[in-house]
Amino acid sequence: MLDLAINNVRLYPMTDDVTLSKHNSVGIQGGVIVSLEDQPQKAKVVMDGRQQVLLPGFIDCHTHALYAGDRRNEYFKRMAGQSYEQIAKSGGGISNTVKAVREHTLEDLVEASLPRVQALQREGVTTVEIKSGYGLDIETELKMLRGIRALDELCDANLVSTFLGAHAIPTDNSADQYLNLVIDEMLPLVAKENLATAVDIFVEHIAFDVQHMECLFKAARDLGFQVKAHAEQLSNSQAAQRAAAMGALSLDHLEYLDQPGIEAMAAHGTVAVMLPGAFYFLQETRRPPVEQLRRANVPMAVATDLNPGSSPIASLLTCIHMACNLFGLTPEECLLGVTINGARALGAEAVIGSIDIGKQADLTLWRLEQPQMLTYELGQHRPTAVIKGGKLLNLGYTSC
Ligand code: NIG
Ligand code: FE
Repeated sequence: MLDLAINNVRLYPMTDDVTLSKHNSVGIQGGVIVSLEDQPQKAKVVMDGRQQVLLPGFIDCHTHALYAGDRRNEYFKRMAGQSYEQIAKSGGGISNTVKAVREHTLEDLVEASLPRVQALQREGVTTVEIKSGYGLDIETELKMLRGIRALDELCDANLVSTFLGAHAIPTDNSADQYLNLVIDEMLPLVAKENLATAVDIFVEHIAFDVQHMECLFKAARDLGFQVKAHAEQLSNSQAAQRAAAMGALSLDHLEYLDQPGIEAMAAHGTVAVMLPGAFYFLQETRRPPVEQLRRANVPMAVATDLNPGSSPIASLLTCIHMACNLFGLTPEECLLGVTINGARALGAEAVIGSIDIGKQADLTLWRLEQPQMLTYELGQHRPTAVIKGGKLLNLGYTSC
């Protein structure tokens, strides 16, 4: 007997396009999708989907959601005319959040971050990637990663942690010295405690260069980590080309990505993660080369980049709206970007990201005529039900 059957739904599997399935019933056992049928199924618990749209749980594949404090003063400075880079160069930016994160306990970090993850959950997000990178010393980077693990215990979504020790250069260190610390001391500890699945780096003239990235990736791959990078966000450093060739799972931001970078990503199956929230919030004008990525068949994901400095936006639905309106992704590309391609960006496409037999039963139900409506109407939609690992979540509000 099935544990749960969700009958009478309009099912969009999101396997590789946005089409309505001929199936209208999902059977779940042990938290996994075990059957897809075109007639109602019997189960211990039966849900009537009332002809609503059934989608996979959404995936936010790039966030910095664990932090303390805020950076409102920098926002006010930017509104008065300073740039993100000027603020970073004059000692503000990421280092302000580093200071706050060092000063707070793991418990404080978890408490401050839970509402942000819950805000994502309310929109049907069932998997959230969270990066470290506001510690920049051994103790605080480990505190952040352990904090993400503790937060995972508290929230309904599944949290995936990424080690971003190479996020910025600490004020009391040179880039080379600090990167050696990341590689020689932090990485082995992160591996030993199994605190992250992937390793990330910010490649930019205000952070690390391509050689740093190559050294980090070699060491990370040797320890069994996946690798990814914040690349070509504020300038082109040709990081994408090298990172793709070194097997990066995803490259994120990409406003300044060039054609050789696109070709390398296409050749190696690297996912392009679009972060329109940061583009919007930093009032950037250069868009990622979406048309060229599309022509080259590079899979595109969309994420919030939720962080206090460049994207204080805990709304993946807002970000897919922006990805359409600001970057020119199609509604379908946006929806694939927060389902199957979001899963690919995490190397988790065998487990999550689409409604398929054998996948984790992470599902969301929506009162919509078609899923594309989610990229069109902003602030108007919430899932009427969220199922995580086969369990119906309490949404905290009444749905029908
Ligand atoms: O993805 N680019 C670097 N990292 C973040 C910004 C983090 C911050 O400003 O706190 C980003 O935009
Ligand atoms: Fe980021």
